[in-house]
This record gives sequence, structure tokens and C-alpha cells, in this order.
Amino acid sequence: MSAGKYKALWLEGEHLVVIDQTRLPFSYETKRLITPEDAIGAIADMTVRGAGVIGNVGAFGVYLAAIATNGNLKQIEAISTKIRAARPTAVNLAWAVDRMLAVLKNSQNIIADARSEAIKICDEDVEHTEKIGDYGCKLIAQIAEDKAGMPVNILTHCNAGWLALVDRGTALAPIYAAHERGIDLHVWVDETRPRNQGANLTAWELGQQGIKHTIIPDNTGGLLMHSGMVDMCIVGADRVTRAGDVANKIGTYLKALAAKDNQVTFYVALPASTLDMAIADGRDIPIETRSSDEVLYMQGLNRAQELTTIRIAPQGSPALNYGFDITPARLVTGLITERGICPANERAIASMFPDLNTK
Ligand code: MRU
Repeated sequence: MSAGKYKALWLEGEHLVVIDQTRLPFSYETKRLITPEDAIGAIADMTVRGAGVIGNVGAFGVYLAAIATNGNLKQIEAISTKIRAARPTAVNLAWAVDRMLAVLKNSQNIIADARSEAIKICDEDVEHTEKIGDYGCKLIAQIAEDKAGMPVNILTHCNAGWLALVDRGTALAPIYAAHERGIDLHVWVDETRPRNQGANLTAWELGQQGIKHTIIPDNTGGLLMHSGMVDMCIVGADRVTRAGDVANKIGTYLKALAAKDNQVTFYVALPASTLDMAIADGRDIPIETRSSDEVLYMQGLNRAQELTTIRIAPQGSPALNYGFDITPARLVTGLITERGICPANERAIASMFPDLNTK
């Protein structure tokens, strides 16, 4: 077992330290989470975000609850209900909290076991993202071969890198693996309004690794695909049903439609912890509605290099802010998982993940 140190979060004694993702790319700051309420707040206000990391912080939130209650299981369960509810769409959060509680129910040493189970969840994520990277890299390598070494152009939406799932991400894991293996590639980064996770976080991650990329407005992908400028799309997921419908950041569905119309392959990368075998139809996935302020205001640096928030719409105009949309399985070329690449349909998913079958 690792010492509980990952790129996006790490343990310092009994505290969890996380990168404050609301400040990137403008400044690199960390936050110390000491109480379970700190963990709930960090998930809800998106100090941390991305399905995997939400689950990791949820798991450590249960550990912090164990410390705060001196191992009182009833109280830990009550706090865990609040952790579970901090964000509704990414199933990794509920999955991680439930896994923690299942271990603690049979524990004689609740605080120590909570700590080691949370670390175990993160260690598994590190292992899974390595494997997702290896499987996805084969797809990129095949395109590179078909293009006789010309750069492979990959479009991605939102941020599904190591800020979202320790320690390599989901959608970005194959990109990192291909770059490390010397494959020439370039990434089209959807800005991902309204919170700009693409422009802020994915571009920052790729820049750190020296990977060629270009930020595009969310509306640009269709034109690029129609013009032959995209070889494949890879996105992450917040929840995938047993039939292969995908909940991911709002705007993903429109990219999948454009990809289908232009015969561009559309892959979704995810670990098994993002599968929700209890749901078949994506329309049953709870979609988070967030504050309209995220649409009406934008954050960035002004010319004096100060972090500023500005309003971009008329006073009095309302805005609607759904955080996620559903991409039907029929638009998904395949699911890149830690067990291999799987068609997005019920039979294939059940046969790759027989141990998760709840039917
Ligand atoms: O609202 P966010 O930033 O938490 O949404 C994140 C995404 O939609 C990612 O694409 C998704 O979590 C996959 S990365 C594990």
C-alpha cells in the first residue's frame, strides 16, 4: 500500500491536502481538509472535481468522520449520508462512500481501517488509470500507423486527466501513454463552458507535459470533424449505465453526435467504479443543476494579471446550468476500461464485468 500520496491529493498526518482546482491555471494553491465538513465543502464547491477524485475525497471524508467521531459507526454513517449527497451525478462518490462503510461495519479498528481503505481505493485508481492508458494507447498507435506518422488529432471535452482521476486520468491517460511512447499527437481541447475545465485544467495538464494542444470554443468540434481535422474523440465519464449510456460533462452528447455524423470514432474512458449496473437507461441518471451564476459570470485574469470575475450577460436575464448530459450508447464506439476495450452495450459490459452484475 502506498503512503497515500497522489498528484491531486495527499495525506499529511491525519489531514488530507488537495489542489484547489478553482484557482488553476492562474495559481497553484492547496487546501487542507481537516474535518468531514471540509471534505463535503471541497466536493460541493468544486475545489476538487472529476468523478474519480470526488470519490477519493469522499472516501477520505469518511476517514475524517472516523477521526472526528472517535470511530463511532452510527455517527460516521450519518455524516457519510451527507458526503454521498455532496454531488449527485458522478457515481464514484456513492460507490466510494458505500465501500468505506461496508469495511467499517466489520471493523474492530475503525479509524485505522478507514485510512487504509481510502488509500486502497486511490491506489487502485492509480493502477486502473495506467491500464486505461495502455489500452487506449493501442488505439492511438493504430491511427498513427494508418497516418504514416502524421500527428494524431484527438478531441477531448472537460477535464478527465490526473486532476480528475489519480494519477493519470481517464481520457488523458491514453494521450499521456502515447506521448511517452513517442507518438506524434495533438489535442483539441474543448473549453467546456460554463466552468471551463478544458481551457483551465486540461490545457494546464497538457502544457505541463509538453503535449501539443489547442483550446477551441465548444462549438468548434463539429466544423473540425467535418473538415477531417479530428482522428478520434476520447472523453471521460461520471456514470455509465449497464447498457452503455454515458453521463459526462454537458456538451459531450453534441460531440458524440458530430462524431457519428462524420465517422469519427468516439471513445469513453472509465474505471469500473464509474459503472452503475443498477441503471440501464441514461435518462434515469440524476443530472446536477448548478448555480446560474456559473453561466452569467466568468473568472479570469485581467490585464493587470489579477484574478477577476466579470458578468457576461444582461442584468435580469436568467440562465440554466445543467452540469452533465447523456450520450446514448449507440453513439459510443467503445469503452476504454482497466480490463480492456468494451463495446457500449449491455451484453458486452456484463461479460467484461460479470462480478458487478446486479441483475
Ligand atoms: O463537473 P466536473 O468538473 O466534476 O465534471 C467532470 C467531468 O465531467 C469529467 O469528464 C468526468 O468526471 C470524467 S474524469 C474522471
